[in-house]
Amino acid sequence: MAEDLTILREASKEEKYQSIIPQIKALIEGETDLIANLANVCAALKEQFNWFWVGFYLVKEEELVLGPFQGPVACTRIKKGKGVCGASWQQEKILVVPNVDEFPGHIACASASKSEIVLPVYIHGKIIGVLDVDSEYLAHFDVVDANYLNEIIKLIDV
Ligand code: SME
Repeated sequence: MAEDLTILREASKEEKYQSIIPQIKALIEGETDLIANLANVCAALKEQFNWFWVGFYLVKEEELVLGPFQGPVACTRIKKGKGVCGASWQQEKILVVPNVDEFPGHIACASASKSEIVLPVYIHGKIIGVLDVDSEYLAHFDVVDANYLNEIIKLIDV
């Protein structure tokens, strides 16, 4: 496993994803512990993209509970259907929110967060949590992020 990442500073979003994806693959290859892998995925994404917040919420009974993340402290529990994370879990859908103030029920863990993307995470076809990424810029995420992030979280499903 490579412990030093190669980080692209001056590159397009696509190039950054294309560079980090094989590195994430190498990081989690051969490791079966879910939490260790989720933690390294967050760290690698934070290092490459320097997003405001990136992390996982994990399904525990009827709630999402905060898992590995990088960024400021965050709310620890989210009920099914609540906020962007709870909605993504309930609907099993990728949600791209260009302006969090316009999302009904958005949970503001930090006032600096302006836009957000949330993706369901599956293991063997069962939803086990969500990946949540927050930006301090409006409309920071689009279908490019949705596609590449989905590719990344599929690497976890081993
Ligand atoms: N904004 C999220 C809550 C989690 S924090 O952003 C880290 C939501 O509405 O579900």
